[in-house]
Amino acid sequence: MADDGAELGRLVFLFSFLSIALGTTVSPIELCGAPNYDVWNLTSKMWKFSSPKEFCLMPRTENTTVDACEITMAFCQPVNIPLNCANAAVCESYSSSNDTFNLATYVNNPFNTTALPMGEGFGTNYGSGEIYNTTNTTCTLRTVMTFVCNASASWDISQKNEPFLSVPVKPSINFTQGPKLCTYSIKFDFAGACPVSPPGGPVSQLSAGSVLLLIFFVSLIMYFVLGCFINIVRGKVGQDIIPHQTFWTALPVYIMDGIQFALTCGEKRTSSSYQSI
Ligand SMILES: *[C@@H]1O[C@H](CO)[C@@H](O)[C@H](O)[C@H]1NC(C)=O
Ligand SMILES: *[C@@H]1O[C@H](CO)[C@@H](O)[C@H](O)[C@H]1NC(C)=O
Ligand SMILES: *[C@@H]1O[C@H](CO)[C@@H](O)[C@H](O)[C@H]1NC(C)=O
Ligand SMILES: *[C@@H]1O[C@H](CO)[C@@H](O)[C@H](O)[C@H]1NC(C)=O
Ligand SMILES: *[C@@H]1O[C@H](CO)[C@@H](O)[C@H](O)[C@H]1NC(C)=O
Ligand SMILES: *[C@@H]1O[C@H](CO)[C@@H](O)[C@H](O)[C@H]1NC(C)=O
Ligand SMILES: *[C@@H]1O[C@H](CO)[C@@H](O)[C@H](O)[C@H]1NC(C)=O
Ligand SMILES: *[C@@H]1O[C@H](CO)[C@@H](O)[C@H](O)[C@H]1NC(C)=O
Repeated sequence: MADDGAELGRLVFLFSFLSIALGTTVSPIELCGAPNYDVWNLTSKMWKFSSPKEFCLMPRTENTTVDACEITMAFCQPVNIPLNCANAAVCESYSSSNDTFNLATYVNNPFNTTALPMGEGFGTNYGSGEIYNTTNTTCTLRTVMTFVCNASASWDISQKNEPFLSVPVKPSINFTQGPKLCTYSIKFDFAGACPVSPPGGPVSQLSAGSVLLLIFFVSLIMYFVLGCFINIVRGKVGQDIIPHQTFWTALPVYIMDGIQFALTCGEKRTSSSYQSI
């Protein structure tokens, strides 16, 4: 009975270990990033660029003349700019007016690697921004970005102490005003939008199969290490240290039996037949 208890304990341990391993091995895939693209520079800073007057929204503040506006964006983190951009991923602000507009709301992982043909770059999927309400229109703001592969368009982040950097390339901006949606479409050249390994080549991401294999082997190793440890603590010596020693030493014999059974199409039963198990 005491042995059964220990056996159960080991099973419970193995099960909890498997669950933990599953949890820690699978979650990195869901972290913020774009597989096979180099988004490190993009995600480690907040980026701003100015938009020509024609694409700027009318500030809520009365009697302001707008000559230009500035758009600030962040990836994998919100921009947190006062007034209306508390949880924004993309925010419009003005030098001449004390107002901001939330153009897109923060989401955990904005990157969409299927927005462009494979290997040409990636796009973003953000939450909708705020409702833009003027005398003439009421629409929900949203922002769609595309990052196009251009190996010479490096977004340098060597100014380490500056949280906001200026986008080093001139973006292409369009603003379409529909009856319900007002959409900013913004396109950038970015060296990080060039695939890290050639399209169709190996992707630096674990497949579900390799994750399962990894879990299997890690669990197997843990089973032997912990099993031996428990047996040593119980004062066992020599071969008896191996957990479930009788099973493991008999296993090669079972396997040989199985192979022989298969090869002879079940005709020839060997000395240690299955009945004896
Ligand atoms: C805005 O301008 C109009 C006319 O130019 C003026 O009557 C009004 O008082 C101004 N409002 C503010 C808040 O300055
Ligand atoms: C801008 O808005 C903030 C918050 O409402 C306010 O404290 C500040 O005085 C305003 N600044 C100007 C120049 O209007
Ligand atoms: C990514 O973009 C494509 C093309 O715009 C779209 O069809 C797809 O639904 C997007 N994927 C996600 C996860 O939103
Ligand atoms: C939009 O503005 C109009 C007046 O300009 C107002 O009556 C309406 O309630 C506003 N709608 C929203 C959703 O803010
Ligand atoms: C809104 O309407 C007024 C006249 O009704 C017009 O002068 C103005 O240009 C319009 N604004 C936009 C953004 O269409
Ligand atoms: C790539 O980026 C560089 C630097 O920003 C720019 O001069 C060049 O025109 C871009 N090439 C294309 C094809 O857009
Ligand atoms: C990232 O920034 C570094 C400098 O800090 C620069 O050398 C590198 O080219 C940049 N990478 C991309 C993809 O822009
Ligand atoms: C903006 O519109 C022009 C002309 O319709 C198009 O060539 C360009 O690709 C568009 N830019 C974006 C970012 O959608």
